[in-house]
Order: sequence, then structure tokens, then C-alpha cells
Amino acid sequence: MSVGHISTPTMAFCTRHVVRGFSSSALRPAVIKHVMIIGGGQMGAGIAQVAASTGHSVTLVDTSEEILNKSVKGIEGSLKRVVKKKFADKPEAGAEFIHKVLQSLSTSTHAESVIQSSDLVVEAIVENLKVKQEIFGRLDKLAPQHTIFASNTSSLPIADIASSTSRLDRFGGLHFFNPVPMMKLVEVIATPATSQETFDSLLNFSKVLGKTPVSCKDTPGFIVNRLLVPYMLEAVRLYERGHGSKEDIDIAMKLGAGYPMGPFELSDYVGLDTIKFIIDGWCEKDPGNPLFKSSEMLNKLVSEGKLGRKSGEGFYKYK
Ligand SMILES: NC(=O)c1ccc[n+]([C@@H]2O[C@H](COP(=O)([O-])OP(=O)(O)OC[C@H]3O[C@@H](n4cnc5c(N)ncnc54)[C@H](O)[C@@H]3O)[C@@H](O)[C@H]2O)c1
Repeated sequence: MSVGHISTPTMAFCTRHVVRGFSSSALRPAVIKHVMIIGGGQMGAGIAQVAASTGHSVTLVDTSEEILNKSVKGIEGSLKRVVKKKFADKPEAGAEFIHKVLQSLSTSTHAESVIQSSDLVVEAIVENLKVKQEIFGRLDKLAPQHTIFASNTSSLPIADIASSTSRLDRFGGLHFFNPVPMMKLVEVIATPATSQETFDSLLNFSKVLGKTPVSCKDTPGFIVNRLLVPYMLEAVRLYERGHGSKEDIDIAMKLGAGYPMGPFELSDYVGLDTIKFIIDGWCEKDPGNPLFKSSEMLNKLVSEGKLGRKSGEGFYKYK
């Protein structure tokens, strides 16, 4: 899940510029073969796994060998689970598949030495604008002209991250969902400056990964979180007003709306601190919007360290 800030509402209505630095509309989407994923955490490792499984050569970058070893171990475990299902009757083919995927995957703690051979950089590091800007700004000076940069941020405006580079036309958002190998959706985000060729390349790349892409403007929460976060907050407000118990609200949404989890179960799964971070960021930028209002109950739980599943207690107890 994700975290959120807000970008200028007008951005949503701007049309995309025509390509800067390129001369013709005849440009075709670039073929993406070599991919650098920066950040080997939950999201980066998942993206690396899926990209390496679909014929790309992938370099996963993080700050230490220790983290990278852990990421690769996680990818191996996840591949084994995939193979168990996909190659249930053909264990040899399964083992060969894992071998091939792992051969397509390398790791590095030095993005600068990999950037020259990267067609696409996907960043999935800590959710901090300055850190993201710094890394992209540095790589922009070294990257080949054709290299596309993309961020997996779920809360920061893509245009703000891109502003540290000189390739605004070759910069977009690729917002994956957790767990990446399972979740089919990718939100592909165009800023007003993203070129059509870049956007098409990112759409194609998502399809080659076996995902279903949807097009998004660079607006807060893109599509999924923009709908999901206010919904979760409204459920909390319903409960605060005594309109229903959290158990009943969860049952109602599961059985009445067909959702796999109720809003309180989902909030605990996402992390209450994450939801607070999102809503506070949105509220700061658009304080008059009633959908972006925080909730006393949410703030109290977070201040008590009750963050959901990860801390053992949120709206529900997990120990
Ligand atoms: N977790 C989710 O459900 C989810 C879903 C969609 C998008 N996102 C976004 O994806 C990004 C990563 O989230 P995550 O949950 O994978 O985080 P995470 O904490 O699991 O992983 C982040 C990784 O980035 C590494 N890192 C930090 N700074 C770095 C740097 N300068 N260079 C290289 N590596 C660096 C860290 O060592 C860590 O391994 C965030 O922008 C987040 O908003 C998260």
C-alpha cells in the first residue's frame, strides 16, 4: 500500500508536452531490455523478480551487500512458490526456470557503474523526496540519453522527483502493488512533461511484465489510493460516530460489497502510521477537503504505537 502527498490539482488537466530533446513524432517506444531497480526492499525485490522472470536483464541496487543478499534470498523463496504452482507437474522445468531467472539477476551497491547499460531505472527506495531527488539527479548526469527513469512512489508527486533531472520527458511513474509478483495492476503515471514515447514504453514494459497497466495523471494517490484511503478513513469516522461496530463494518463490506477485506482489516494490513502519513500529507495541501480529514481515533492509535499487523495491534489485536 501506499502513502500520500498532494500535487497541484491543475496538473491533472495539463496536456503532455511533445518530446523534449527528440525531434520527431515518429519515435517509437524504446525497447526495454536492461533494467536497474534501485531499492531491494519489499517492492524493489518484487519488481526485480517479475522483470527478471519476463526476459529482462536486471540489476538490483541497494546500500549494502547484506541487504541485497536478503533481497535475493527472498526472491528465491518467492520463485520457488511460483514454480510449485506453475510447474507442478514438471519440477525439472521449474528448476530450470528459477536458474534462468536468477542468471538474469545481478546486484550492485554502486548504481553509477550500472547506469551506462540501463534502458530503464525503476526507483523503489525510502519514501523521501530529497533522497529520491538526490539519487536521480546524480544518475541523470551519467545515464545514456535514451534511459527512462521511473519512480514507484505512492505518495510523492512524480514531477517533484523528476525536477532534479534534465530528462523530464523521459521520466514517469510506475506504481506497483504489494506483493508485486501477485498483484496484476500497475499505475503508469505521466507528468505534464512526460513524452508520449516514454509513456508508451512504460505501458509496454508493464504489459511485458504480465501486468495490466492503467494510465494516471500525476495527482495525489493516483487512482487506487485516492479512492481507497478516503474510504478507509470514512469507515473509521462511521465507527467513531457509533454507526456500527468495526466488526460489523468489516463484515458488511466483505459480504455486501464483495471486498476481500473489510476497511479495518485492510487498514491494519496497510499500517495505521502509513494511512496517517498519507492523509496528513493530503490535508496539509488541501485542508478544506472533507475527504482528507484525519480521525482522532486513528491519531490516538498511532500515538500509542498501535500500527496494525506489524506492531501486533491496531484496530484489532494480532497476538
Ligand atoms: N510497501 C508497499 O506496499 C508499497 C506499494 C507501492 C509503492 N511503494 C513505494 O515503494 C517504495 C519502496 O517501498 P518499500 O515498501 O519497498 O520500502 P522498503 O523499506 O521495504 O525498501 C526500501 C529499500 O530501499 C533501500 N534504500 C534506501 N535508500 C537507498 C539509496 N539511497 N540507494 C539504494 N537503496 C536505498 C533500503 O535499504 C531498502 O532496502 C516507496 O517509495 C513506497 O512508497 C510501497
